[in-house]
Amino acid sequence: MSVKVLMVCLGNICRSPLAEGILKAKLPNNYIVDSAGTANYHVGSAPDKRSIAVAKKFGVDISQQKCRQITTSDFETFDYIYVMDTSNYKNVMAIAPNEEAKQKVKVILNELHPNKNLEVPDPYYGEMDGFEHVYKLLDEVCEAIAAKIKA
Ligand code: 4NP
Repeated sequence: MSVKVLMVCLGNICRSPLAEGILKAKLPNNYIVDSAGTANYHVGSAPDKRSIAVAKKFGVDISQQKCRQITTSDFETFDYIYVMDTSNYKNVMAIAPNEEAKQKVKVILNELHPNKNLEVPDPYYGEMDGFEHVYKLLDEVCEAIAAKIKA
């Protein structure tokens, strides 16, 4: 059975594209990994140049990704929906069509720090070091997610 994972942030140009690329790189090809934003500001755009650059630095190519907004059909398609922060969690839960859908939604860092609801900080208005910090957080948690879903 191939597991399907959706990574979600606000804009789908900084954090969730990194999460998608990093997790994909840790899994065999038969796993589906995608990403989406709760907002529609950047639909159709490539990831932020700074996310592309930090991924490239660590050997992951996210340059071909295209931003899209989460839809209600994503709750049927995907087995796990990982959000980056509490605000994303609220926004995604607000459009979840039913109880089964709500149970798929997880705060991503809870995979390493259960029930703490720690956030992957939004690096958009910051500098390159913020993107590097986000990359490291996501690389660590995606290692745990990959091990879990391959098990
Ligand atoms: P992301 O970062 O949610 O990690 O993609 C953001 C990108 C764009 C905006 C906010 C956050 N924005 O306001 O345009």
